[in-house]
Amino acid sequence: MSKLSSRHLLGLEGVPASDISLILDTAESFREVLDRKIKKVPTLRGITILNLFYEASTRTRISFELAEKRLSADTVNFSTSTSSVKKGESLRDTVQNIEAMKIDMVVVRHGSTGAPYFLTQCMDSNIINAGDGAHEHPTQALLDMYTIRQKYGKLDGLRVVLVGDVKHSRVIRSNIWGLKTMGASVALCGPATLMPYEIEQLGCDVYTDIDEALDGADVVNVMRIQLERQQSGLFPSQREYTNLFGINKERLKRLRKNYTIMHPGPMNRGVEITSEVADGPRSVILEQVTNGQAVRMAVLYLLRGQDEGVEDAE
Ligand code: CP
Repeated sequence: MSKLSSRHLLGLEGVPASDISLILDTAESFREVLDRKIKKVPTLRGITILNLFYEASTRTRISFELAEKRLSADTVNFSTSTSSVKKGESLRDTVQNIEAMKIDMVVVRHGSTGAPYFLTQCMDSNIINAGDGAHEHPTQALLDMYTIRQKYGKLDGLRVVLVGDVKHSRVIRSNIWGLKTMGASVALCGPATLMPYEIEQLGCDVYTDIDEALDGADVVNVMRIQLERQQSGLFPSQREYTNLFGINKERLKRLRKNYTIMHPGPMNRGVEITSEVADGPRSVILEQVTNGQAVRMAVLYLLRGQDEGVEDAE
């Protein structure tokens, strides 16, 4: 079995192209499993995985849980609302108590940047970041890249526009690192107030005019605009955001002929994207969700394979 360069997946910054290719190639075999009548392989039999979600999630949480079950792992789900976090228990005490019950891997989503790294310092389990603060959401970017590669057969040389809250979006951040490593050209577009300081250091083309950004692009990945940013005064109104940055049918004329529309979800229909575009023939939004399971199966399989021989994916 080929190996990844790390036993954790905390982000895509600094992850070599060989690791990303290995994950995407491995995901191809698991994607095929999802089309079988019995969508299950024995690969992670005997492995126990904790899904530790301190923040809300629909797609990532269910996708990981299904991926684990389809690899025959045992799973346990943690949510803050029904745990002793409500009684003030710390993150460190929480995870060390759960690990004392003999778990092997942790999938963690947390509102604080660096929480997954913190777990690597106080646990022996393999840690997978399912979204930490405004830092990274690596499996989302991997499934985005898988979906682009599925359509074009490559990532190298494609022009991908990421539209939205560049400053706070962990999905954008992971996409930037992953896509650039794999040779894509990345353009960022959003309100100037939602751009990070020293954005030029990210090595992307930066736009505050959506029509300029879309010119000649292959892929548009549209991010959810977070309503709390409006409350904190970072953009004037949803209507103005829609007028200036919303992806509608008219704007699609600027793209290359064989363009693709993506969104990681959850969507604010009618705000950052119209329903006509989201449900249109060039949208791969639901394919992203399906592919996400295969990518997560690949990540779980490869990370666990770092620690012990697991059965080959068949
Ligand atoms: N894309 C994504 O992370 O969605 P959820 O918040 O529903 O997991």
